[in-house]
Amino acid sequence: MSIEQLESIAQAMVAPGKGIIAIDESSGTIKKRFDAVGIDNSEENRRAYRELLLTAPGLADHISGAILYDETLRQSTRAGKPFTEVMRAAGILPGIKVDMGPQPLAGFPGEVVTEGLDGLRQRLAEYAGLGARFAKWRAVIHIGEDTPSSTCIEANNHALARYAALCQEAGLVPMVEPEVLMDGDHDIDVCYEVTEAVLRSLFASLYEHNVMLEGSILKASMVIAGKDCDEQAGVEEVADATVRCLKATVPALLPGIVFLSGGQSDEQATAHLNAMNQLGPHPWPLSFSYGRAMQQAALKLWAKDMQGNFTAAQKTVAQRARANGLAALGQWTRGA
Ligand code: 13P
Repeated sequence: MSIEQLESIAQAMVAPGKGIIAIDESSGTIKKRFDAVGIDNSEENRRAYRELLLTAPGLADHISGAILYDETLRQSTRAGKPFTEVMRAAGILPGIKVDMGPQPLAGFPGEVVTEGLDGLRQRLAEYAGLGARFAKWRAVIHIGEDTPSSTCIEANNHALARYAALCQEAGLVPMVEPEVLMDGDHDIDVCYEVTEAVLRSLFASLYEHNVMLEGSILKASMVIAGKDCDEQAGVEEVADATVRCLKATVPALLPGIVFLSGGQSDEQATAHLNAMNQLGPHPWPLSFSYGRAMQQAALKLWAKDMQGNFTAAQKTVAQRARANGLAALGQWTRGA
């Protein structure tokens, strides 16, 4: 696949007023989400839930792509239509999570490095054959007393760069995700410093590995105070700090940046994105790739009555897509 083709996929992912829904929870992570609302983590429940999300009427008006987990990429609707076909027909690009999750970084207590490079070339070729158009790899950075170390940042970014280069070789757009966690009592200034250091190092690694930025997407965490910090920053402050940090670190050539929600409430995630876009225009489209902030309301509703609330849950996820789509344009108003 040519760089022009990768570039046009990347641009479609961040088309005006559109963003990504992340439904790539591994079977372990979705178990946590299901447990929280009392749903049995059976393969059929996982399939039914992903069908609910992917076939929600009107979803594609504001959703350009969905990140799936390996199992989901191979599943079909109840009527037997492969999810990838349903998505293609709706104009939703199939994406696939390809990392194998974070593991403790030896020698650095409390820090992790994401694994999954071994055999990745073969897995990517298979995913491309199954219809995936983009991939995701998430690195996890903890803010603590003495963390993150530069070793941890570099190890994670080296893996992200190797993953991104392999994706482009396989004809998939890499979504490159270095997540700075919201866990902790650090303030927004500390989050800014860490995020800046992580992104500077990331783009240096991508450069060293010949990754073509024109065919890549950054999935970023917002610059925000830690969950346990006494001083929570307001919406304008988060928007301003995040945009400033991105402008200082992310080349303008990148086709787009999408955000993770990372534990923010649904409304917070939307309000922050909206405020950032109201500060525009920016060098790149700023949009969303939310998991929890797209799904949690719909999941809660569905859990109460899987059959009876199916349609209402679909409406709920479509509403979240609409609100975030408006926020990607800076046109969201509270209550919309
Ligand atoms: P959250 O929006 O729930 O943080 O999930 C997004 C995601 O894909 C993290 O990798």
